[in-house]
Amino acid sequence: MAVNEMMKTLVRTGPGTPTGNLLRRYWVPILLSSEIVEPDGAQVRVQILGEKLLAFRDSEGRAGLISEFCSHRGVSLYFGRNEDGGIRCSYHGLKFDIRGKCVDVPQAPQMCEKMSIKGYPCVERAGIVWAYMGPPDKQPELPGVEWANLPASHVFVSKRLQECNFMQAMEGGIDTSHVSFVHKFEVDDDPFHQGTKANEYIKKDGNVTFEVERHEGGLTLFGRRMGEPDSYYWRVTQFMFPWFTLIPPFGDHALGGHVWVPIDDEHCWAWSINFHPTKPLSGEEMQHLQDGKGVHCEYEPGADVPGGTFRPKQNKDNDYLIDRVAQKERRSFSGVLGFAAQDASLQESMGPIQDHDAEKLLPSDRAIVMARRMLYEAAENLEQGLEPPALAAASQAVRSAGVLLPRDQKPQEWAKEHLRDATTQPVYTL
Ligand code: FES
Ligand SMILES: [Fe+2]
Repeated sequence: MAVNEMMKTLVRTGPGTPTGNLLRRYWVPILLSSEIVEPDGAQVRVQILGEKLLAFRDSEGRAGLISEFCSHRGVSLYFGRNEDGGIRCSYHGLKFDIRGKCVDVPQAPQMCEKMSIKGYPCVERAGIVWAYMGPPDKQPELPGVEWANLPASHVFVSKRLQECNFMQAMEGGIDTSHVSFVHKFEVDDDPFHQGTKANEYIKKDGNVTFEVERHEGGLTLFGRRMGEPDSYYWRVTQFMFPWFTLIPPFGDHALGGHVWVPIDDEHCWAWSINFHPTKPLSGEEMQHLQDGKGVHCEYEPGADVPGGTFRPKQNKDNDYLIDRVAQKERRSFSGVLGFAAQDASLQESMGPIQDHDAEKLLPSDRAIVMARRMLYEAAENLEQGLEPPALAAASQAVRSAGVLLPRDQKPQEWAKEHLRDATTQPVYTL
């Protein structure tokens, strides 16, 4: 199958599409827990995988995700009342619980059973409400990614709107060769990257070569640079099925990663995560994270409120505040400042859905092609009734790394021992 043909399938994620069916077999990050803080507080609209949904917290504090629209005559339940264990439609008073079950039809109680709407089970991990949107009898184990299983003090998550298809956003997380260009000068100034041996090696050797290994849970990418006279410096990136990526670490700074979740086929949530496996984030780190440093961002005024757009301050309407002087003075490679805006500016510039018929791939795109192929095969296999890969939580419990290895040592061998089931291991970083 030609790559551009596979992409026609992979960019469509609405209900009933092969890729949509595949993604619905995993737990889906939906919104920040902080967007629905209060029991019986204001419900918020969310769109995920092309479905218009409503998130809320019921009287018992349980998160719920249901269809936005009332089964009676299609009114938006956004205008309903969240009270006494469910949302009551403001039009004629039908009421729905966190699973979309209709619990009251004032005019015709005998009709109650027939009036339920769509509702998805939710769990909360790492300050995110996750939902399972697939067939009820196929619900997998809870998310196994390391950061989703840490105490709240150890992890920081943020989300930002990205105005393009999730595949072209996620491919930026897999395509580590772009780091030597657009992010080149950012690593010196950013508080989550500066002052590390990693930066020295990265800068000393721009001629990075990649090896990619496919395994049950995803892909491991090995980027090789010159290390010490007897060693290579390997930066190891992880892609975990179906939408997680882990960034190789910089010194003792917090580890980082992303999740790329379709809102619809032309927008996605770029979730950004920082975490320490064994200690809380410091007050200073927390401050930087909240200020939008590192892989996080600042927002348009009023965008980062419950149910808000979470649209970054730097966006396509203002050319991401490109600064040509900063570009000339080599403070920014492209003139756009900040990791998130740098990635978004380039990925959104490809159009809401990249024209894959026109792309001409290079050898350095091997990892992307492998990821596309893996996802495509899984989507096609699922259509044939074959179960998707990496449903077990353990297959997601990998880690990224930065490590010096003797020149004759295969990084794949090292990774097998140290990076799978890695959450019991020390962090390998320089
Ligand atoms: S439309 Fe909701 S109760 Fe009538
Ligand atoms: Fe990037």
